Amino acid sequence: MTANVLIKGGRIIDPSQSVDEISDLLVTNGVITEIKTSLDRPRNSEVFDAEGKIVCPGFIDLHCHLREPGEEYKETIETGTAAAAAGGFTTVCAMPNTVPAMDNQSVVEYVLKKAKETAQIRVLPIGCVTVGRKGKQLSEMSELAELGVIGFSDDGDPIEDSNIMRQALSYSAGLKLPIINHCEVPTLAHGASMNEGWVSNRLGLKGMPNSAEEIMVARDLSLAELTGGHIHIAHVSTMGTLNLIKAAKARGIRGTCEVTPHHLTLSETLVMGPTEDSFVPLSRDAYNTNAKVNPPLRNQSDVRSMVEGLQNGTIDVIATDHAPHNQVDKTTTFQDAAFGISVLETGFGSLMTLVDNGHIDVNTLIKKLTADPAKLLGMDIGSLKKGNSADITVFDPSETWIVNPQTFLSKGKNTPLEGTLLKGKIKATFFKGRKIY
Ligand code: DOR
Ligand code: ZN
Repeated sequence: MTANVLIKGGRIIDPSQSVDEISDLLVTNGVITEIKTSLDRPRNSEVFDAEGKIVCPGFIDLHCHLREPGEEYKETIETGTAAAAAGGFTTVCAMPNTVPAMDNQSVVEYVLKKAKETAQIRVLPIGCVTVGRKGKQLSEMSELAELGVIGFSDDGDPIEDSNIMRQALSYSAGLKLPIINHCEVPTLAHGASMNEGWVSNRLGLKGMPNSAEEIMVARDLSLAELTGGHIHIAHVSTMGTLNLIKAAKARGIRGTCEVTPHHLTLSETLVMGPTEDSFVPLSRDAYNTNAKVNPPLRNQSDVRSMVEGLQNGTIDVIATDHAPHNQVDKTTTFQDAAFGISVLETGFGSLMTLVDNGHIDVNTLIKKLTADPAKLLGMDIGSLKKGNSADITVFDPSETWIVNPQTFLSKGKNTPLEGTLLKGKIKATFFKGRKIY
């Protein structure tokens, strides 16, 4: 567990400095000191053999739910960050839909204290936009900013009131922090449990149309233009959303967005079970509540447009939206089940299928998990530059494994990928030079 490590013979990929070479990487006292071929092992250092593996900056997750305080039966900061480390992440941003919500100084201080005591990685809190996430009254945003929140969100729920959103964007412009909105027009999404389309019709479930997301995205981009604030759209899922963001960016509006591994790789048919060929009669795996997530898994053409958005830069970063739930929340009817997927431990493996299929290259994938989220945070992380904290992920791009939620470090076993073969396995995660996974 020393903070002096020589990582030998790996393919080092660091998009922040356009590095892609087979080399050694030396860490001294928790800090990156050198990248060079054939480095000698200094005294008092461990050697990690990375031959055949890829060595890159530790991943940064801008969006996850750690559930503490209040829902420790679903996840804690300790279990969630252990799962994150197992998934290659060394920094996670914690969403504030906890109980109580992170809408005031004492709750944020509690989260920071718990993170210091129990997390092996960096935990950056996100503050609420409104008091109690009720959408009526702005939280003490500047007080939360002083404590170090990296943005504001009522995630899980949208900010419905346009005037509240306008004020939030105005304040956040002054604080130089983003408003992160979960875009969903309530009157269009009310009572819906999946995407609106032929699958929802076939299953007799109420669907959410793409417009529920897109109308609010359009409004938020317009308000960002009006106020000069920074709107960050959480978990984009439709082609229409990407068209709006692309056009806004072209006009110089400060609008950014993230996509999840599941919206890049899975479509609505998964709600009918893993096979698409037997919808008459329905397979016994239909109404799979582990495929219930918000925004819902969309149709194939939306999934393809997410991949395109990643390639053409409309999508800024990949974020997990790790949303752990316990069995009781998911072992019920599709209509009643909780929204959310446990993602931290499968996210990278499922993203590697896009690399394997030739949809994106591994350098772009790593950039969207490291340099680009670091840029959004305005922090000197996500990079293997000399002098930076030695936050490092080592993975084997060709090792295959089968998803078994019972082995997850996360308390959330709610994944629709159980039994799926993935290619690409995290072999080690270092934080400040210490091997924590
Ligand atoms: O599926 C989701 N689960 N979407 C959200 O926006 C919230 C999240 C949760 O907190 O469970
Ligand atoms: Zn959300």
